[in-house]
Amino acid sequence: MKKNNIASLIEMKNRGEKISQITCYDYSTARIFEEAGVNSILVGDSLGMTMQGYEDTLPVTMDEMIVYGRSVGRACKDTFVVVDMPFMSYQASVEQAVENAGRIMKGCRVNAVKLEGGKAVCPQIAAITACGIPVCAHIGMTPQSVNSFGGFKVQGKGETEARRVLEDALAVEKAGAFMAVLECVPPKLAALITKKTKMITIGIGACAGCDGQVLVYQDMLGMSGGFVPKFVKRFADIGEQMKKAVSEYDKEVKSGEFPSAEHTYPKSDCSDEFLAQLNKEYDEEGQR
Ligand code: KIV
Repeated sequence: MKKNNIASLIEMKNRGEKISQITCYDYSTARIFEEAGVNSILVGDSLGMTMQGYEDTLPVTMDEMIVYGRSVGRACKDTFVVVDMPFMSYQASVEQAVENAGRIMKGCRVNAVKLEGGKAVCPQIAAITACGIPVCAHIGMTPQSVNSFGGFKVQGKGETEARRVLEDALAVEKAGAFMAVLECVPPKLAALITKKTKMITIGIGACAGCDGQVLVYQDMLGMSGGFVPKFVKRFADIGEQMKKAVSEYDKEVKSGEFPSAEHTYPKSDCSDEFLAQLNKEYDEEGQR
């Protein structure tokens, strides 16, 4: 059993210990994040934007989620891995949701699936958890509904909206979700939801009162080119460091400085006589 599993995460919530989650989409980065000691990795469908360059998450397919999810799953020996169910892989019916949740678990060998929505997707959450698949819900600002919201906007502002978000949280918990991402929810409302439910709440643009936090790694490491939301803290400027290193490489390749003897295999070369002989045997066009 992994060091971070559903029981250990619930115990963390009960002890009041904070849970760290970060997005990730590939094997080598997931290995680094596991070594860094995060509790959980989310293979989010944000990969549509961060890895594939789309404007939103809507074009991402099940097959793509399985490829990315499997790469992360292989790297994580002790980190709890959650994989997103992409747009229209669960909304149409309970049967479709169960089948696709099963495809993710079999294809990626991870620990849970995540799906967006509140009351409307409770039948799907109940059916997936009944199959023994842990479900992380995602409420508040749900990016797959960007067209209904008219943009990526804070949800739960005002009394009617706040009640709706709280009721969504209570409903997904009742349906069986063990964890819920609260995205772009006002801080006092997010803290109230955290107090009112036994689910682990993971905030993004919510508040420190949540049980844990998640960030998109390209945002927090300075690797995303475009707009960075207010809730993101930049922990490093890896994008700048990568640019500097690659520009150095480019210069050294062009100047001939790289590769030097240190980075070649001169000892395995044949004798100068034999190479001169080869040179004679083959003409300029490589003909014998
Ligand atoms: O897809 C994703 O990365 C997410 C996080 C932003 C929570 O859903």
